[in-house]
Amino acid sequence: ISLKSYNSFGIDVKAHQFISVKREDELIGILKRFYASELFVLGGGSNMLLTKDIKDTVLHINLKGIEVIEETDSHVLVKAAAGEDWHDFVTYCLEKDYGGLENLSLIPGNVGTSPVQNIGAYGVELKDVMSYCEAVNRQTLAKKRFNTEDCKFDYRNSIFKTKLKNQFIITSVIFKLTKNNHHLKLDYSSLKTELESQNITQPSIKDVSKAVVSIRQSKLPDPKEIGNSGSFFKNPIVNEKAFNKIQSEFPNLPHYKIDAKSIKIPAGWLIENVGLKGYRKGDAGVHKKQALVLVNYGEASGKDIHAVSKLVQKEVENKFNIHLESEVNIYK
Ligand code: EPU
Repeated sequence: ISLKSYNSFGIDVKAHQFISVKREDELIGILKRFYASELFVLGGGSNMLLTKDIKDTVLHINLKGIEVIEETDSHVLVKAAAGEDWHDFVTYCLEKDYGGLENLSLIPGNVGTSPVQNIGAYGVELKDVMSYCEAVNRQTLAKKRFNTEDCKFDYRNSIFKTKLKNQFIITSVIFKLTKNNHHLKLDYSSLKTELESQNITQPSIKDVSKAVVSIRQSKLPDPKEIGNSGSFFKNPIVNEKAFNKIQSEFPNLPHYKIDAKSIKIPAGWLIENVGLKGYRKGDAGVHKKQALVLVNYGEASGKDIHAVSKLVQKEVENKFNIHLESEVNIYK
């Protein structure tokens, strides 16, 4: 079958065999039948670039279900199955007035992959709202609970991308959310500006969500219309020496201090400043409004997008001597 509708880049590659599981017992049954090496595990498909057909059997994690597992006057623990759509889950929580996820509105993908890359936006990361997640060991089939410490969360990173890569399948994520008394995170400057422009001084969690949605819609392409995977690269973290060198030439270089020695520079700025914002070759390109997003205008192949990504890396490296690390997983 074609995987075009299963990856947000809209790349038309084929899967030799495709199995979708809705329940955990089905998942375990499949893991018993196949060797781990015979399976290609597919979640929401929003963070990968497929550059060729998949010879292995694709296992689509489509586990469903949302339930409240604990509740006090101030907090609630909500469990969501891995196959729930991320934004639908955020919307469900907003409707119940459970706070914590509002800054993470409209992120494409599923609940189950959110811990893998510690998704984040507008000053909040998954690690701030997750209590623990549950995962199945692909070899032993044993179920394991990972709290935030076990996950070794970092900027767009976790143990599921490093030491335990491909070893576990996350089946559900349990969130600790607020009730009644919400703690809003409004430090991100564009979020503040957006709320001010709407004259909202005492925002509710729904107001914050709406503001985030409107910022995202103004800059980021909707994957349903233009294929993309959000930010294609991570924002690079450089040392002071490297930073000073670039800043001496570009005094307006935007940046965030991480600690005494490291400074984060927006990759989008670097890409824009090598002149590639809006670049297009065939149907593959760099988004016009956000240079960190690579796009498929329709019929681009995974290889076409990959070529654009390599061009971006080369140009940024030539001009700034900075290597952009891809955030998206590339299947090649
Ligand atoms: N910028 C440019 N030109 C561009 C794009 C950005 O100069 O074309 C500069 C601007 O100075 C801008 C700054 O970069 O102020 C930051 O841009 P933006 O606020 O759009 O955020 P970002 O650093 O590009 C990160 C995340 C996004 C997340 C936003 C908001 C990464 C890799 N990306 O992008 O996450 O939504 O912050 O918090 O950290 C994703 O991971 O897929 C994603 C979309």
